[in-house]
Amino acid sequence: MKETIESQTLDLTKLDKIVSKYKGQEGVLISVLQEVQAEFGWVPREAIKRIADALTVSLGQVYGVLTFYAQFYLTPRGRNTIRVCRGTACHVRGTNANLRAVERILGIKEGETTGDFKFSLETVACLGTCFLAPVMMVNHNYYGKLAPGKVEPILKQYG
Ligand code: FES
Repeated sequence: MKETIESQTLDLTKLDKIVSKYKGQEGVLISVLQEVQAEFGWVPREAIKRIADALTVSLGQVYGVLTFYAQFYLTPRGRNTIRVCRGTACHVRGTNANLRAVERILGIKEGETTGDFKFSLETVACLGTCFLAPVMMVNHNYYGKLAPGKVEPILKQYG
């Protein structure tokens, strides 16, 4: 069965355990959100209300933090994160063709997640390994001197 965002159920026990650890404490909002995201891979809407109640902060404050910091995700993420570098060094060595290859193979665009939640695709300004340009990362692994023909075998290694 194809998994969808709607069919994902949230383990409220895990959520409540995290939230209760911080209940009543001040200045812990970012820590709670980080822990929730580490547990679920994103910050679900149900979590936001419970966090606001437990820490006696407004929903607006929680959303403010979530939208200010790029590290937080408000939609479910794939189990594997692909980062294609769009920096200058990678650009001049053909990173756009690699990005198109990823998009074609997975059927998603930058910023999207596959329907089976296997992959999320992002682009970044520089991965800090320009000498390997053009570069792509999957999770913590670097793939340098990448070419479109190498993309599919790499992605097949991830489940
Ligand atoms: S520009 Fe791509 S790694 Fe630096």
